[in-house]
Amino acid sequence: MKRIITIEAVKEAVEAAHAHFREEKGGKNADYIPYLKNVPSDLFGISVCLADGRSVTVGDTDYRFGIESVSKVPTAILAMNQYSAKKVLSQIGADATGLPFNSIMAILLENDHPSTPLVNAGAISACSMIKPTGNAEAKWKAIVDFISGLCGSKVSVLDELYRSESETNFNNRSIAWLLKNYNRIYDDPDMSLDLYTRQCSLGITARQLAVMAATIANCGTNPVTWEEVFHPNLTPHIASLMATVGFYEHTGDWLFNTGLPAKTGVGGGIMAVIPGVMGLAAFAPPLDSAGNSVKAQKALEYISVRLGLNIF
Ligand code: DON
Repeated sequence: MKRIITIEAVKEAVEAAHAHFREEKGGKNADYIPYLKNVPSDLFGISVCLADGRSVTVGDTDYRFGIESVSKVPTAILAMNQYSAKKVLSQIGADATGLPFNSIMAILLENDHPSTPLVNAGAISACSMIKPTGNAEAKWKAIVDFISGLCGSKVSVLDELYRSESETNFNNRSIAWLLKNYNRIYDDPDMSLDLYTRQCSLGITARQLAVMAATIANCGTNPVTWEEVFHPNLTPHIASLMATVGFYEHTGDWLFNTGLPAKTGVGGGIMAVIPGVMGLAAFAPPLDSAGNSVKAQKALEYISVRLGLNIF
C-alpha cells in the first residue's frame, strides 16, 4: 500500500478529520471515576508528530486530560527497558484477554496469569516490577521521568483526578490482591496499586501524547529532544502489545478498520504508533461501551484510511 506522508498531506488529513467529526455526538464521558464525568464533552484535539519531529495539531491539543490507560504503554516499556522484553513476557505475558480492561474473570480464566501489561491487572503487575523495588517514591520518579522523556516535556498528576480515582478504585484493589494471591505481583500490592492509580491520573495533552507516540515510532529516540529514552529493540514488542489489546474487546474491529497499533484511555485519549513513520494522538471525552473515545477513534480511522497508514 502506498503511503503519502508529506507534512502537507498530514495537515490536510488532520484538518479534514477534525472538521468532519467535530459535531459527532456518540458516546458518553466515563462516569465510574467522578472527575471524568465533569470534563467538558465537546473538547476535541488531534495531533500528529512525524518520526523526524515535525508536527501538526488541530483543536484542543493543549488541554491536560487524564492519561488513564494510555499510561500502561510507557510503564510496560520501562519494565522491558529495566529488565528485558523476555522477562516481562514471562512475568506478565502478551496475550489478549478478549474481556473488559478491568476484568477479574480474565485473571481467573488465564490460570493465574495477568496476560498483558496493557490491561489493569498486567499494568498493576508492571508497576510492581519497576525498579527500585520497595521504594515507592523512587519508583514513581522512575515512571514520571520516563513518561516526561517520551513526551519531551514534563508531565504531572492532576491532583483532583488522583483523589477521585483513589476514592473509587475498589475493583482495582481486588485485582492487586488477587494478583498477590497468584504470585503475580512483585512488590507491595497496595504500593503497586497506588503507583498505577497515580500514573493513570497524570495530565497529558494531545500534543505531548503525539510526541510520546513518535518516540515509540522512532525506536526510543525522542524526535523533538533527540534523547534516547529506551532501547531501540523494544518498539516492535510494544507495538505488538498495542495491536493485540489496545482497544480491549474491540481491538479486532479497530485493527481491521485501521491497521494501527494503538492504545486508548478512559480520559478520552488514543495514541497510535506507526513504527518508523509517525505517532498520532486524538482526544475527545465521550466513550463507547468498551471505554474507547468515539470521536478520537473515528478521527484516527479517517486519517489512517486517507493517508494509507495501515501497517498490514
Ligand atoms: O483503572 C482504571 O479503571 C482507570 N484508571 C483506567 C482505565 C482505562 O483507561 C481503560 N481504557 N480505556
